Amino acid sequence: MTITAAQTVGQIATDAPGATREFEKLGIDYCCGGTRTLGEACAQANVNLDDVLARLQRNAAAPSPVGEQDWQTWSLSDLIAHINGTHHVFVRSECPRIQALAVKVVKVHGKNHPELLAVQDQFSALVGELRAHLMKEEQVLFPYVVRMEQSVLAGQPVPPAMFGTVVNPIRMMMSEHDGAGDALRQLRSLTRDYEAPPDACISYRTLFAALQEFEADLHQHIHLENNILFPRAAAMEAGRK
Ligand SMILES: [Fe+2]
Ligand SMILES: [Fe+2]
Repeated sequence: MTITAAQTVGQIATDAPGATREFEKLGIDYCCGGTRTLGEACAQANVNLDDVLARLQRNAAAPSPVGEQDWQTWSLSDLIAHINGTHHVFVRSECPRIQALAVKVVKVHGKNHPELLAVQDQFSALVGELRAHLMKEEQVLFPYVVRMEQSVLAGQPVPPAMFGTVVNPIRMMMSEHDGAGDALRQLRSLTRDYEAPPDACISYRTLFAALQEFEADLHQHIHLENNILFPRAAAMEAGRK
């Protein structure tokens, strides 16, 4: 495949094998910022466009990394089951672990590193928002998309929805994703790119590593929803697929 500067980051992340890993390394936001062109995203991230194009092209030509999936070939129901079973489970199991770690680290290091208190507050606010967000997806939007796909596959009309069109809850979820993306950027800045200081103990380093893994998982999670699930659900409702 040919990758160009005019393609959107979300499209490249969806179509080009290995692209999300490369974007993650380069600090290019491919989930909430997926509607920007690659040219714009590189300018904002202050990275050289030609270098990035060459790296993406090389990855796309190489055999797909183990475990990488072509999500466009998955049914929407299977994609939702994957999101729930992988990313929603991860958020729910990691949040209490990270919050407990943060309490411990703030207690020991908060005096010398007051920014840790801001990290703790920012993460707790994100946890609260995510808890409500996941519930809305699991109880309202996702069950509707599953029902809609079943109807369409059975040759039936799209079922009526209490929220009018599926585009309405999608818009709301995307705006909440933007909020989560801002919180992640804030956490990255407060922790200076998750670089633990020389006096950091093992818990301190574990906290930063856990936050960084949480960020990578949430990026992939939002990418699957914003760039793959939501556009396909909207297209299905509109009868385009
Ligand atoms: Fe989700
Ligand atoms: Fe979401």
